[in-house]
Amino acid sequence: MHRKGKIIIGLIVFIALATLPFLYNLGRENKGPNININTPRIQELEVKQCIESTEYMRANHMKLLVDWRDDVVRKSDRTYVNSRGESYEKSIDTCLDCHHDPNANTEDQFCITCHDYASVKPDCRQCHSWPGINEHPNPENHMTINQ
Ligand code: HEC
Ligand code: HEC
Ligand code: HEC
Repeated sequence: MHRKGKIIIGLIVFIALATLPFLYNLGRENKGPNININTPRIQELEVKQCIESTEYMRANHMKLLVDWRDDVVRKSDRTYVNSRGESYEKSIDTCLDCHHDPNANTEDQFCITCHDYASVKPDCRQCHSWPGINEHPNPENHMTINQ
């Protein structure tokens, strides 16, 4: 009986210690990046939604952009028709038209705050103008990138 009690206390202490880092991260994750959808362009929208559902964009925006790039560079296909039947130009500028906030600092820009938070460093900005960071696209081509 006595032994059993000790084992149970030991187990409780173990579980508490094992879950601590997890709980700690939970708290941090709740804070999250500063997702700013208060840009002039988004304020004009009647329905405040992205080109596809938010869940889809969260999970797939990287693949979507790389597909767009391939379509434009390899097939000269510049028109994206979304699942609602609306057309958009396949360009990073399409995203920035809605997601760039002229009143926010660089580190608070939509794409950048989240990438910093997630420690992702897309190399796109080396060539693509990303307002406030570099204004002049580099005339190199995509053949140098393997994605
Ligand atoms: C080495 C320079 C370079 C890098 C790095 C680069 N691009 Fe590009 N990208 C170009 C060039 C040049 C074009 C062709 C522009 C055109 O035809 O309009 C282009 C076109 C595109 C297009 C279609 C047109 C447009 O203006 O948006 C997309 C989308 C795109 N790139 C996405 C990306 C993404 C996403 C990344 C990062 C993962 C990236 N690119 C990194 C040089 C680059
Ligand atoms: C017509 C304006 C518009 C365009 C164009 C647009 N977005 Fe969005 N985007 C929005 C709005 C509005 C939301 C917020 C929707 C919500 O509150 O659920 C959003 C949400 C998102 C999210 C999810 C953010 C979160 O809460 O986790 C991502 C990621 C995203 N957009 C990326 C992109 C990328 C990448 C492009 C270009 C390929 C793009 N968006 C083009 C308006 C736009
Ligand atoms: C809600 C958070 C969030 C927002 C907002 C966001 N991203 Fe991302 N992005 C990520 C994460 C996380 C990854 C890495 C995903 C992976 O590696 O699977 C990523 C990856 C990418 C990549 C691929 C990078 C690579 O080297 O493979 C591109 C390109 C990209 N994002 C473009 C954008 C653009 C453009 C915007 C703004 C219009 C944007 N993202 C907004 C979270 C976000």
